[in-house]
Amino acid sequence: MNNNTHNYISNSDIKIGLPAIEFKQLLNNRRTIIISDENLFCLYPQVFEGFDKIILPSGEDTKSLKTVELLISEFVKLNLDRNSFILGFGGGVICDITGFVASVFMRGLNFGFIASSLLAQIDAAIGGKNGVDFGNYKNYIGCFNNPEFVICDPILLKTLPDNEYKSGLGEVLKYAVIQSKNELFNYLNQNAEQILAKNQNSLNVVVNQCVKTKSDIVAKDPFDKGFRQILNFGHSFGHCIEKIENIPHGIAVVYGMRIALKLAVKKGLLSSDSQNNTLKLFAKFGFTEDIILSDEHFKILAGDKKKNLDLIKLVIITDIGKPEFVNFKIDEIKNLLK
Ligand SMILES: NC(=O)c1ccc[n+]([C@@H]2O[C@H](COP(=O)([O-])OP(=O)(O)OC[C@H]3O[C@@H](n4cnc5c(N)ncnc54)[C@H](O)[C@@H]3O)[C@@H](O)[C@H]2O)c1
Repeated sequence: MNNNTHNYISNSDIKIGLPAIEFKQLLNNRRTIIISDENLFCLYPQVFEGFDKIILPSGEDTKSLKTVELLISEFVKLNLDRNSFILGFGGGVICDITGFVASVFMRGLNFGFIASSLLAQIDAAIGGKNGVDFGNYKNYIGCFNNPEFVICDPILLKTLPDNEYKSGLGEVLKYAVIQSKNELFNYLNQNAEQILAKNQNSLNVVVNQCVKTKSDIVAKDPFDKGFRQILNFGHSFGHCIEKIENIPHGIAVVYGMRIALKLAVKKGLLSSDSQNNTLKLFAKFGFTEDIILSDEHFKILAGDKKKNLDLIKLVIITDIGKPEFVNFKIDEIKNLLK
């Protein structure tokens, strides 16, 4: 283990800074099958040496029941039993499907993740949500079950495509804005250049802060009954922007946060100073633009899972580090954003 390694114990043993290749020390000689995607397999062949592996196409389409069936057929061919271990090596898609299939095959095998994208290291691999999409419905089939361990090795992020890295940074900014002590907000303000340059020490700090923030929130509401939805800051608008503009999730979330900030100011819940300080931080990471919502966006928003009659429960902030739930009527949102 190197000096930058942090172990964060929640329901999973989260190892931040452990070199990915050292996953072998966590397997305790169990028979292990690696599930990954074609990109990781090409970039990191050394991880797979000596292991049975199942390599899936990359992309959201892989997160389907069809892939679950394919994986289970492969498990049967490989003669897996209840003592076998399943390791997911990849971004959020691979983590979500690995966690799900490992949880349901033979009523549950132990599993772990090497999270390879920034979004997976700070979000998808943390908190115990696993699942697949069902047609156009995202994450409609799934379960809560924590991996035994999660390795978050920031060196892997060096090969992550720029747009995917930017998407992860969008979620990092979300944590910075909702985290109560403003530690991450201040750190990002002071270290934007290093983070954009993927400096390993800075990334260790960032991943550590995000994992701690998410784990603390999840610990208060592990099954997502209410409080955990504070993590959805920027997501109600983000989801419809992601669908219509077809842009990566975290980038859409930043557009969504900008709208939520504006609404909070217009409703007199947030000061313009706090809004400006937040927008200045976003700008340091290259997020400077707004999106004007169209009728098409509003149609999706009205059909959002978080809808209750014509009221939408949105997460807004009343100050940096102070997220709250506020109900808005769709028409009120339209008027405030005019
Ligand atoms: N379970 C949860 O709590 C949770 C939370 C947030 C998001 N998610 C899910 O996560 C998914 C999105 O995850 P994502 O953004 O990681 O997307 P992804 O898994 O599709 O990965 C993005 C792309 O980057 C590539 N990639 C990943 N790591 C790489 C690396 N180190 N080097 C080079 N290429 C690499 C992948 O092959 C893929 O092409 C969505 O399906 C979303 O629903 C789940």
